[in-house]
Amino acid sequence: MTEHGGADSRCDAGGLRTSGVVERFRAVLPLPAAAAAVSLGEGATPLLRLQRLPAAVGFDGELYVKFEGANPTGSFKDRGMAVAVTEAQARGAGAVICASTGNTSAAAAAYAARAGMRAFVLIPEGKVALGKLAQAVAYGAVVAQIRGNFDDGMRLVRELAERLPLTVVNSINPYRLQGQKTVAYEIVSALGRAPDYHALPVGNAGNITAHWIGYSELAGVGTAACLHCGGNCRFARQCVDGRPQMLGYQAAGSAPFMRGAPVAQPETVATAIRIGDPQSWQPAWIVQRESGGWFGELSDQEILAAQRQLAATEGVFCEPASAASVAGVLRDLRAGRIVRGATVVCTLTGHGLKDPDVILSAEPRIHVLDGSATALQRLIEQRL
Ligand code: F0G
Repeated sequence: MTEHGGADSRCDAGGLRTSGVVERFRAVLPLPAAAAAVSLGEGATPLLRLQRLPAAVGFDGELYVKFEGANPTGSFKDRGMAVAVTEAQARGAGAVICASTGNTSAAAAAYAARAGMRAFVLIPEGKVALGKLAQAVAYGAVVAQIRGNFDDGMRLVRELAERLPLTVVNSINPYRLQGQKTVAYEIVSALGRAPDYHALPVGNAGNITAHWIGYSELAGVGTAACLHCGGNCRFARQCVDGRPQMLGYQAAGSAPFMRGAPVAQPETVATAIRIGDPQSWQPAWIVQRESGGWFGELSDQEILAAQRQLAATEGVFCEPASAASVAGVLRDLRAGRIVRGATVVCTLTGHGLKDPDVILSAEPRIHVLDGSATALQRLIEQRL
């Protein structure tokens, strides 16, 4: 990298996505210097300011979504998986394993394929969204459906990894969180400061912990360095003091943080966060305390309503789990718990295409016509 004159053509915050999080954030990642990046061009996802939704609840602040569904396998897991698989490959590891509600398995399978490694994924029988299952199969993972839920799968993974030469790539792998913290760097770089509130869905609570690591590092540094050159070129932004209050939203049937204890039989339509025994239990409580944020719970109906509202009024289609963040924020805005005039960011963790069944099973608004122009005209005139 040359002087900033030379950097100008490249420092567009990774907009061209010719590199991934390992290359762009190497300066803040604890990787061996010689580790070759494993990348699918992850990160640099859209940060979109919402217009109609905040107006509908009379909110006068700024509401953004960070659309992590735009990652290469369609979820935020790609940031963490890029770093975890980079580290595993640098160590000479030959195989990765994970338990998953779907997205981790898709990302593990993709990045393992990219690195020439084997991937073994454990998924709960019948509770994984169709798109995620298709991905794991397509990327060539060995897919094992187990009788039991995610928490059972996680116990098996821990046990097997003690006996066999396997790298666990669930978020108990610290490199996963290191990769996922990069989302906070991108947000601060884009806004020029940290938001006042940051909301996200919580399952294992790895991602809320990772966000907090990122925001905390930036608050310590005081400046968000340029994402490409890592320096203070014209793309670097001032990070005004603070860290956001972190808001973690769960599905009511799978809400151990609201119950204050593990949930034995978690249930929710948001299968990604159907988790009763979070792996990052202690860290998440620290995040809540340090940030002055809170946990909340939403019914499946509230989650699905927010998913549809977001897609139909803003053009952003996320999976149900992701919509829990927006559902929670809209409710807490209405209740006045989130203060007026604030800047709020919601992480939309996964793409809506991951789970086509949930949208199509609810109320498919598809009109079956006889193929004549008259019938079509009638339909259109009714709706114009
Ligand atoms: N949103 C989506 C779309 C997810 O896939 C997950 C977790 C979460 C939110 C919660 O993140 O666990 O860090 O609190 N999915 C994992 C998986 C469990 O196996 O794909 P968390």
